[in-house]
Amino acid sequence: MKSQTIVLNVNDENQIVTVRAADTLLFTLRNKLGLTGAKPGCLNGDCGACTVNVDGWPMKSCLMFAIEAVGKRVTTIEGLKDSPIQRAFVENFAFQCGYCTPGFIMNCHSLIEQHPNADDKTIKEWLESNICRCTGYAEIEKALKSVLKGK
Ligand code: FES
Ligand code: FES
Repeated sequence: MKSQTIVLNVNDENQIVTVRAADTLLFTLRNKLGLTGAKPGCLNGDCGACTVNVDGWPMKSCLMFAIEAVGKRVTTIEGLKDSPIQRAFVENFAFQCGYCTPGFIMNCHSLIEQHPNADDKTIKEWLESNICRCTGYAEIEKALKSVLKGK
């Protein structure tokens, strides 16, 4: 398959990367840019483990081609180091094995940005796009709400 060189803006840095047309954003972030925070899970849009932010909105990176991200601003969990939502997950014990955690944090981060006054219904709807197989969702919701309250 033919490759092409593109520029991706990831975590506020322009990255030059060679991709094939069928390379997903998830594959490219992990295998070409060494950003392994976004996790492969179902690879079909169901689990949310691969969630990143694209222009401020949560995006399941297994469902997006890398070439579709050209000209957009991509943020990964590596770009949220020491963010309030990351700290809130730690303080509220909102994880166990941690595999789903980057995806949840990215989704919560977008929700906080897009809906700083989110009500319970909105929170529930947004959290439905991610799956955790270990921990209770109560702690995740608590972590999210602790940041929303502080806004
Ligand atoms: S790996 Fe992308 S949604 Fe599950
Ligand atoms: S903490 Fe293990 S899958 Fe969520």
